[in-house]
Amino acid sequence: MFSAPLKRLIRAAAPYWAGEAAVFRTYWIWPKRTRETDRRWLALQCSKEVWGSGLAPLDKGIFLGPAEELIRVFPRIDIDVDRHAVLGIAEGLWAEFLHYCAFADAHDALARPGEAKLNPHAVKGAWKEDLDLSALRFRHKRENPKLGDRAAKFTEGGYCTLFAEGMLLKNRKHPKHGKANRLIAAACAKVYEDEFGHMLKGIAGLDEEGLSDADWRTLEAMSVEQLKSRILMRNAQFGYPLAGKDLEQALAGRRQPLAFDYRKAGAALHA
Ligand SMILES: [Fe+2]
Ligand SMILES: [Fe+2]
Repeated sequence: MFSAPLKRLIRAAAPYWAGEAAVFRTYWIWPKRTRETDRRWLALQCSKEVWGSGLAPLDKGIFLGPAEELIRVFPRIDIDVDRHAVLGIAEGLWAEFLHYCAFADAHDALARPGEAKLNPHAVKGAWKEDLDLSALRFRHKRENPKLGDRAAKFTEGGYCTLFAEGMLLKNRKHPKHGKANRLIAAACAKVYEDEFGHMLKGIAGLDEEGLSDADWRTLEAMSVEQLKSRILMRNAQFGYPLAGKDLEQALAGRRQPLAFDYRKAGAALHA
């Protein structure tokens, strides 16, 4: 079901997914975690869910981009644009806006009286490391449109580690963060399955594309570079909980790799 080069790509990515997961695992129990730092990372997550971190043009993001695309293709549905392709665009818009709502609701539920509600425009271009990730993805897509786009999709969501780790907070008692843990777990549960699917879009059909060995190497190099950039982006989003040796290890791909769920991925790809 998965070719040897596809498995090699996944093997190359797995230690970096673990590096990203380490940011959250460290943060949840970090002594510097406060209501304010929770509100900050949730707001930054909302920025990603609307503006897309390089998955769509910066000025349009993953709400306005597909919304305009739907208007553009409407006259051509089932003439030269397949109805299912259009449904896919609509689903993407719906899913990402649902993610925005989930994290924005958690953010606003942690507000004190008088604190302003979040909105998409207030969180545009919110932090440097996320803009760096966007710029890297745009560069890869310019250098190699086909493989660059594949790499951006494959690295989307970072194997869902934020959502998987966040869901584990559901029953985690904490004297200060009990309410936040419940809100975060509920938001992450709404996002997890969608983002697993979005990552699979990066690898669906890859084996039928007849990629050369050099293509596979290029895809792997782009993916690893993006995954490293994701670790820096996440670490900044959460206020730099990973530091020193732990951060070095994560960026060098020396953490114990996460186990890729071949059964779940195979079932989804062949559904
Ligand atoms: Fe999302
Ligand atoms: Fe997504």
